[in-house]
Amino acid sequence: MKLKPNKREQIFPLPVALISTISNQGVRNAAPWSNITPILRPLDEVLLASWLKRDTLTNIRETGEFVINIPPVGMEEVVMVCSRNYPPEVDEFEMAGLKPRLSEKVKAPGIEGCLAWAECTLIEEILREKFSLIIGKVVNLEVDENFFLMKKAGWISKKSKTSVLHSWSRGPYIYLPQRHRKIGRLF
Ligand SMILES: Cc1cc2nc3c(=O)[nH]c(=O)nc-3n(C[C@H](O)[C@H](O)[C@H](O)COP(=O)(O)O)c2cc1C
Repeated sequence: MKLKPNKREQIFPLPVALISTISNQGVRNAAPWSNITPILRPLDEVLLASWLKRDTLTNIRETGEFVINIPPVGMEEVVMVCSRNYPPEVDEFEMAGLKPRLSEKVKAPGIEGCLAWAECTLIEEILREKFSLIIGKVVNLEVDENFFLMKKAGWISKKSKTSVLHSWSRGPYIYLPQRHRKIGRLF
């Protein structure tokens, strides 16, 4: 059976993140983002894909900064409010009732209530005809220690609280992981 191109999230589950940015005029923006990946470990650089008509992209180009916020399970409604197509002059933190979290290394605020915040600066933009690829450097990464536990292997998620985008049919279908299971040891 051939899988239709627009159903490929089913074999490539994607993260559900919220990207927060601020425009040169100081307007705060937040948008859900799934086409986003670390570029190998240890997550020093990230890659995100953006359609060209995105305030997020404009703000990243203008300021060279963005924050990747990881929302917990339960924040889906807020995520969907942020996916609405508000004009650039609208403060999406206000529209979605988001509480800003002061970032340490970038001007763009993070979002309170999220599980993790990766503050990033723009390294490179690869512009294609219909979309753009943004490579960012993670300049500060923090997690909410209520949800993460320090183990020998480092910080690990305590309660499996992140969701993944699993399919899209007139809107996102989000899969909520049940539990973590170790599948082996590499080294
Ligand atoms: C779960 C989810 C994931 C999304 N992922 C992306 C993405 O990876 N790239 C993109 O360009 N738009 C993505 N979108 C669409 C944007 O979030 C949406 O168009 C939003 O209004 C853009 O806001 P902005 O114009 O303020 O940047 C996604 C939407 C949802 C609901």
